[in-house]
Order: sequence, then C-alpha cells, then structure tokens
Amino acid sequence: MTEQKATNVHWHEGEISREDRDRLMNQRGATLWFTGLSGSGKSTIAVALEEALFERGHLSYRLDGDNIRLGINKNLGFSADDRTENIRRIGEIAKLFVDSSVIALTSFISPYREDRDKVRALHEEAGMPFIEVFVDCSLDEAEKRDPKGLYKKARAGEIKNFTGIDDPYEAPEKAEIHLHTDQMSLQEEVDLLLAYLTQHNILPA
Ligand code: ADX
Repeated sequence: MTEQKATNVHWHEGEISREDRDRLMNQRGATLWFTGLSGSGKSTIAVALEEALFERGHLSYRLDGDNIRLGINKNLGFSADDRTENIRRIGEIAKLFVDSSVIALTSFISPYREDRDKVRALHEEAGMPFIEVFVDCSLDEAEKRDPKGLYKKARAGEIKNFTGIDDPYEAPEKAEIHLHTDQMSLQEEVDLLLAYLTQHNILPA
C-alpha cells in the first residue's frame, strides 16, 4: 500500500450522498475496468460503449492509457513500479467518477494482477461496483492488428519492456466479464456489456 504522507487530514462528508447523486443521474456509478494486451481492443470497446450509453441517456467517462499518460501520469514510464503507480492513480481517479455517479470506463493494459486486485479492493471497501473486463485477444492477433506499429518496433528492439514481448501480462482469474475479441463483433461486445450493467442494477431495467 502507498504510504499516507500527509497527517491531520480527514475525509469531509457533504450533505449530498452518492445515493442522492445516483437518483439524480438515474444510474449507479461503477468502474468497468478493461484490461488486456496493447491492441486487444480495450479503447475501441470503451468508445463504442460510451456512445451506446450516451444514446440511452447515460453518462460514462473514458479514462484511457495513452490519454492519461499525456497528462496526469506524464511523469510515469513502463517500469514495473511506474505501471503500478499508473494503475494506483487511475484506480483513485475512477473512484472519484464512481462517487459522482458516472460510469468510469478505464482502458489500461494493467498487466499485474496484484495492482488490479488492489483497485478492486479499494472499490469494494467503498461499496462501489468494480467490474473487471478481460479483453482477451491472442498475442498473435494483437500483433497482426498492431494499430500503432508498436509490436513491430518492439520486435526490432526499438521499444524495451513491451507488454507481451519482453514484459509480462498476467491474465485475470476472476474477471466479471471475459470478451474474446478475436471471436466476437464489437456490437456483440457492447450488447453483452449493456446487458450486464442492466442485470446488475447499474442501469435501470
Ligand atoms: S500499463 O501497463 O501501465 O497499464 P497503459 O495502458 O497505461 O500501460 O499504456 C499502454 C500504452 O502505451 C500502449 O497501448 C502503447 O500504446 C503504449 N506503450 C508505449 N510503450 C509501451 C510498453 N513498453 N509497454 C506497453 N505499452 C507501451
């Protein structure tokens, strides 16, 4: 656990609760945590789901690896420690969105099981839904897609510590949702996610 540096700081409750905000928003805040290899489809699915939710009158917000690494996490690289800190910060940011009754869609490789489990635990302690979505795609297929040309560079030794090539990816063992993106269409994936959110009372029936 990251050390608490500041002392004499206390959580300050407001007059409006998360339940009040959920009622106002007609949805429950939740984190959908997409994890998988680079090129597996995490961001593509999050973009499509965001649009489908918007069309139904529901607010979600995407937190995406590349975007976040250009801003709040610009001081982090891809060492094991930096990836852990990347995920810790995203976990905390996602919680803020959930607390504001928004559906947070996070798309990060998040290669370490322990880091994802810590984010899960933080959500569970706060009574917040955490839905781990394993965006499962074989390395072969991700490498064939290679949308950013990064696998090619990694194979050529131009990028070090690239996930799947010379850095590990620890697949989830208890993901709530397992999507085989090399076998399902984008529409099927979105439909499955919407159905899950409705069945679990994140979205109204
Ligand atoms: S994570 O491992 O810390 O969760 P994150 O999802 O934020 O990674 O960022 C991954 C994205 O950064 C990839 O989709 C890719 O575009 C880019 N990237 C650059 N270098 C690497 C690397 N060494 N390993 C993985 N992704 C990298």
